[in-house]
Amino acid sequence: KILILDFGSQVTQLIARRVREANVYCEVHPCDVNDDWVRAYAADGNLKGVILSGSHASVYEVDDKAPDSVFALGVPVLGICYGMQTMAQQLGGKVEGGSTREFGYAEVRARGHTELLKGIEDFHTPEGHGMLKVWMSHGDKVTELPTGFKLMASTDSCPIAGMADEERRFYGVQFHPEVTHTVQGKALLDRFVLEICGTRPDWVMRDHIAEAVESIRKQVGDEEVILGLSGGVDSSVAAALIHRAIGDQLTCVFVDHGLLRLNEGDMVMDMFAGKLHAKVIRVDASDLFLGELAGVTDPEQKRKIIGRLFVDVFKAEAEKLKANGQGNKGATFLAQGTIYPDVIESGGAKSKKAVTIKSHHNVGGLPEQLGLKLLEPLRDLFKDEVRELGVALGLPHDMVYRHPFPGPGLGVRILGEVKKEYADLLRRADAIFIEELRSHIDKNSGKSWYDLTSQAFTVFLPVKSVGVMGDGRTYDYVVALRAVQTSDFMTADWAELPYSLLKKVSSRIINEVRGINRVTYDVSSKPPATIEWE
Ligand code: XMP
Repeated sequence: KILILDFGSQVTQLIARRVREANVYCEVHPCDVNDDWVRAYAADGNLKGVILSGSHASVYEVDDKAPDSVFALGVPVLGICYGMQTMAQQLGGKVEGGSTREFGYAEVRARGHTELLKGIEDFHTPEGHGMLKVWMSHGDKVTELPTGFKLMASTDSCPIAGMADEERRFYGVQFHPEVTHTVQGKALLDRFVLEICGTRPDWVMRDHIAEAVESIRKQVGDEEVILGLSGGVDSSVAAALIHRAIGDQLTCVFVDHGLLRLNEGDMVMDMFAGKLHAKVIRVDASDLFLGELAGVTDPEQKRKIIGRLFVDVFKAEAEKLKANGQGNKGATFLAQGTIYPDVIESGGAKSKKAVTIKSHHNVGGLPEQLGLKLLEPLRDLFKDEVRELGVALGLPHDMVYRHPFPGPGLGVRILGEVKKEYADLLRRADAIFIEELRSHIDKNSGKSWYDLTSQAFTVFLPVKSVGVMGDGRTYDYVVALRAVQTSDFMTADWAELPYSLLKKVSSRIINEVRGINRVTYDVSSKPPATIEWE
């Protein structure tokens, strides 16, 4: 295994992710573990190497150090950014505060011949120097190498951008190999973990299940857990994993707000109650939601109402379970499908010092109000890893690779006032759109248009337009189709769906959904439009 000591960088979990991608097991622990902990951790002989992460702080602002024992274990150590600086300082070198911060793209020249960088380069200078395209983010820099180290890499503004003590197999890089902007970053980390540390690449997601199951059992003991199941990927995978670990000690609460997609509620129940035999309480709260939404047209107000009711309904169920769980204590844990990007967004990264960027609706609030302890078994995983885990747990591929669906559901896809009549029309139109996206295969890629788009859905416009059907005049509602391609949902392009697909969807919706006589396609990018219409 590989130990990653976290000094509080926003990207520490990316290091873990890269190590997992190399199929090697790793654990992230805070940097302030002590020497006894380190020695105990290494005692079984399985520890093959240590990585010291970056930090958002400077060695002058904080006094975080790696436990000295890390350098006495006899295993390779790689320091990244702050990790390299503290390594240099602890081993007798010198670090100085830079007057300027270096941030972003840089070209680093490889120096000497080191095991770590051997054969790893992006391009050659005319003089024949091997060069790396990297991502840097630092203010301080190492100005004097510790004894035993040689220069491994440099840039114009950072003469010691990499250092190596090949005898002890200690390496430091000032740049960040864990981010994708560092083109050879993956190759460098693979080299360190697989060749220099000599680990075997035999760790797979299935092993993660066993480890996660073990740790959930340990954390929960004989207590009980409640989880809010939404049908989305994260809560579904969390539910399946926790159920695998503790079976009937888990109760899922599925709040049906009446704004779900066609048959969605039944599908969730079939999967979790039917196939997995998990305990699921389905709360049909559609009357409550639609009742409170009657007459409300303002998008923000609609969101607030839906959010508040959701919390109220869930809380009421949770209170009941808290009081009347099957054991004598009732439920004491609230499980959430929080994943790593949520943790980063809300500034709650495990490292005590990560900086808050923005607060996120998934994290915080509820557990305190309910007086429950939190169980978040997906906290360290990225979305694609969560999906892989879902498949390994036996969840259907289509469920795990579903497009994201907003918490307020169809509430933000029916413009203006939400009515049951509108929701019913929208559900049927949307199901046709999704069905056609799934069945239209793009010849070039061999993929379905569902998989080629990041998010696709139908929007209900509460306006009527005139049409003609058979011999008669119609005066019915309009829907808009929306399909976007994006990697981060912060910016998005509308998808260039084939005309044949649009044609089929439009004709099916108009023929099959009485009440809709016009279909439009949304050709707005984000920005300036958003993905959802409200
Ligand atoms: P926008 O419309 O802001 O959407 O471009 C970006 C992404 O966020 C989703 N979205 C939400 N998800 N609760 C959620 O859980 C919400 O209130 C919400 N609003 C938007 C949207 O579907 C898209 O994927």
